[in-house]
Amino acid sequence: MNYPDYETLAVSRDDAVLHVKLDRPDVRNAFNGTVVDELQNAFQLAGEDDTTRVVVLSGNGKSFSAGADLSWMREQAELDEVANAAGADRMARMFLAIARCPKPVVARIHGHALGGGSGLTAAADIAICSDETVFGLTEVKLGIVPAVISPFVMQKIGEGRARRLFLTGERFDGREAARIGLVSESVPEAELDGAVDHVVRELLGSGPAAVASAKELIRAVAKSSLEDAIPVTSDWIAKLRATPEASEGMSAFLEKRKPNWVR
Ligand code: COA
Repeated sequence: MNYPDYETLAVSRDDAVLHVKLDRPDVRNAFNGTVVDELQNAFQLAGEDDTTRVVVLSGNGKSFSAGADLSWMREQAELDEVANAAGADRMARMFLAIARCPKPVVARIHGHALGGGSGLTAAADIAICSDETVFGLTEVKLGIVPAVISPFVMQKIGEGRARRLFLTGERFDGREAARIGLVSESVPEAELDGAVDHVVRELLGSGPAAVASAKELIRAVAKSSLEDAIPVTSDWIAKLRATPEASEGMSAFLEKRKPNWVR
């Protein structure tokens, strides 16, 4: 799969791992309309790309992302109502493209992840940050609200924590982000790349179709009662264990060898 020459993203490949790096370091990777469209495009293509098994999202320069570009936000506010709403819808769909990407998305977070930067963190499947990272749902400090990102953030941190963090706009560090579930792990800065690498290796050691299916499974059962989940989950495993990938995985274990997808 060939990716376009993006203006605001640096995309590179390391075997089956696609690295998507926000690349507006001068504005701390704040995202404007171009970033929104390019991220949407990159994650759409990654989903369709058979050679990609894991996507790592990160930011170039001092910070992961300072959120929405406030010059762009102000320009959007000056548009007519329809164009203003369309811009917000495009942004929401970009977050959705990341959350729904059929490939696992790992976010590497450093520096600052404010507003939409915390939103991008939440949209990823697995986010790992350095202890010093500064997070915040800081929109209220600017007289706005974390609207578009709220479903993604609340899925990770829950309503109670959102009530404090959305209302106060206070900043918090990586350890706190891990404690409340916004990221899955916070590590000293020097260990950040190693921690990301570790999780990427784990993903590459897992069956690609099984990983995609596991992501769908979580979505399917998240809101079910235990009773309602039974027909869904029993049907799920019945179908999955009959696939060629499952046959290979289970045979490899029994034959004491590595499955053919392990790199
Ligand atoms: N939108 C537009 N420009 C932004 C930006 C944003 N969200 N965040 C930073 N920038 C710009 C700054 O205006 C500055 O531009 P300049 O060099 O022309 O003056 C440049 O990026 C560097 O920012 P600076 O504040 O000097 O860098 P820093 O490393 O000291 O601090 C932040 C980084 C992220 C802590 C700080 O820029 C900040 O608080 N940004 C606002 C974040 C925010 O509230 N986001 C929520 C958006 S909804």
